Amino acid sequence: MQLDLRPLNTRFGVEVFGIDLAQPLDAETFDRIEKAFDEHSLLLFRGQTLDENDHVALSRRFGTLQSHVLKPYLSSEHPELLVLSNIEDNGQATGIGDAGQIWHADTSYVETPCRCSLLLGREIPEPRGDRTFGDTVFLSAAAAYDALPEERKASLARLTAPHSFIHYYKLKQAQGSNRPDLTKEQESEVPPVDQPVVLPHPITGRKAIYVNPSYTTTINALPEAEGRALLDELFAHLVKPAFVYRHKWRPGDLVIWDNYATQHLAIGDYALPQRRLMHRTTVLLRDDAKARLDETRRALV
Ligand code: SIN
Repeated sequence: MQLDLRPLNTRFGVEVFGIDLAQPLDAETFDRIEKAFDEHSLLLFRGQTLDENDHVALSRRFGTLQSHVLKPYLSSEHPELLVLSNIEDNGQATGIGDAGQIWHADTSYVETPCRCSLLLGREIPEPRGDRTFGDTVFLSAAAAYDALPEERKASLARLTAPHSFIHYYKLKQAQGSNRPDLTKEQESEVPPVDQPVVLPHPITGRKAIYVNPSYTTTINALPEAEGRALLDELFAHLVKPAFVYRHKWRPGDLVIWDNYATQHLAIGDYALPQRRLMHRTTVLLRDDAKARLDETRRALV
């Protein structure tokens, strides 16, 4: 069966019609979905009725799942599911309330960042007229790389940059987030890692800009001010409207994005009694892709 794919009117991302992900997917259909995913970097499926088991099982078709370092926010039934929510239970947070509100690619701060994330909207704040709340904005870091002038591409080719979860966490605390300090044990799980500034995709080979404002602090081998100026230039380039898609959630939407080709930003423009509940899985790279990534990193880092 051919998939019914319709572009999201950007340079990346497609909506997939006619698939009920709560039903078993045969190997051929999944293969087509995976190919579409590698080609378009983001897939949207609307109107899905996945329960937690279905969400985890579907995610596993893309690879092994990763459990997040912030253990208190994992689903009690399924530790592979990270709960992103502003909903409270007896005054206690039930999920991370302010996740993803600075541009980032998931887990770029580990040596082998995750392949993709599958985010399911379970409760979404009611729109008021045309105004929606809790949108997620995505950008194509691959399209942004393609559009760079050739001299800039050449100057980035051999650069690397540190990515740090601890830096991001402290940034959030400095911005007023009431997250508790990371324990020493949590910090030791996520030491900073160096990544190439331009990363060939470990599956498709397509190059993308691989620095982001959440985790990238500076550029190695450049004086601090020069590194900062280069990061600011790249961050401003990445968010140009030509590379961006803004997703307006409805309950039952599942969005799958490629963390090597895209970045995303959650818009925190809602507050209780507006309720937002999302479940996210993150999928690791398969071994063959990891080997290609290791090769790229060994050559540079
Ligand atoms: C994230 O995965 O970074 C959060 C996305 C969202 O809640 O919209």
